[in-house]
Amino acid sequence: MQREPHVLGTYGRAPIDIVRGEGSYLFDADGRRYIDFCAGIATCCLGHAYPGLVATISEQAGRLMHCSNLYGIPQQEELAQLIVRDVVGLDGQVFFCNSGAEANDGIIKVARRFGHRRPAADGSPRYEVITFLKGFHGRTLGSMSATGQTKIQVEFDPLLVGFKYVEYNNTGALREAVNERTCGILLEAVQGEGGVNPATPEFMRAVAEICREKDLLFMLDEVQCGFARCGRMMGWQAICPELRPDLISCAKGLGGGFPMGCFWVSRRAMDEKGTPLCSIMDPGSHGSTFGGTPLACAASLTVVHELVEQNLAERAERLGREIKETVTSWNIPCVNTVRGLGLLRGVALNPDVMKTPEGTTPAAHLNNLCRENGLLACPAGPNTLRLIPALNIPDDVLAEGLTRLQTALQESLA
Ligand SMILES: Cc1ncc(COP(=O)(O)O)c(C=O)c1O
Repeated sequence: MQREPHVLGTYGRAPIDIVRGEGSYLFDADGRRYIDFCAGIATCCLGHAYPGLVATISEQAGRLMHCSNLYGIPQQEELAQLIVRDVVGLDGQVFFCNSGAEANDGIIKVARRFGHRRPAADGSPRYEVITFLKGFHGRTLGSMSATGQTKIQVEFDPLLVGFKYVEYNNTGALREAVNERTCGILLEAVQGEGGVNPATPEFMRAVAEICREKDLLFMLDEVQCGFARCGRMMGWQAICPELRPDLISCAKGLGGGFPMGCFWVSRRAMDEKGTPLCSIMDPGSHGSTFGGTPLACAASLTVVHELVEQNLAERAERLGREIKETVTSWNIPCVNTVRGLGLLRGVALNPDVMKTPEGTTPAAHLNNLCRENGLLACPAGPNTLRLIPALNIPDDVLAEGLTRLQTALQESLA
């Protein structure tokens, strides 16, 4: 395919142009139809061209798209209330932005401000945030610096200071990493980009406990695993629903394909005087021209209402279990295991029994074979193929997609 030379070459793109979507199908410029197990990388949770979402966006665009945060925006109030009540389920306040990376930059700022208000014993601010190897938090300078993967940081140093990367699911290493400069611990309940690795319940509980013991903020990146994807409204709720995070970053599924991000800050008391944590972000402390436009909030309101009313979290849980059982039942030698929760699934591959061409990874090769068979999925690291379809994918489309995956897996064998 001839590509225009004027788009910066930051992506390794598949050799197809996508021009239309409908439900869990995507169509390329040649009219070929694909089953979509990628959903815009876990974003289009209601599928493509979902009629209710199209209607909301069209109607709101005709009334008011953008007016700035200089004025009250009723849709923000309504959406924040819905997120607090029906998604997070814990009292707090929400800041709206446009992407996952921005949401993470936002919670890192909150953590740093907290470190000033709750300084170290010598009175100097605490500023270090502990994050995890194989985690992913985004591509802005802040979120990239928070990401425990050197491959995305090459030649962008010096990075933002104040991050320490620790092995995921390793409580001992985490305890050792905490020092007098630490102000927070940031993790994904299920690492998406890093290979679909869920946190163990023991580890999640240990994170919360260490945060409580050492007066640290318990920070969750729910960008990929949130919004019903993992079988509950938030990823952490599918693992340890009793835990009480302090900060949560969100994006992807929140907008169902419309660019939208947010972060939630708990209202819990952060000191002896009972100062609410969320109150430390006062007027002037943060902002965004496009954050929480009437259009983006209207779109998100429709998405979140649909997730709740159709109980798509429960559906994700059921379909995810079916994927795991079906793929495991094939007993294809290149499948080591199927990891993940709900509809955030990773097929972990055994490269030793695969015929992978030079210069590619087993997951990328399998992904190419899937595409040739009319199925779009998405690698997560070199040896894991991610299956992240829309949460409302019809049962028969899911079944047909799995049949295509089976064919591709067989073709990948040495
Ligand atoms: C867990 C997680 N955090 C943050 C991001 C960054 O989100 P965005 O690409 O919207 O900036 C991603 C994107 O894949 C993600 O998976």
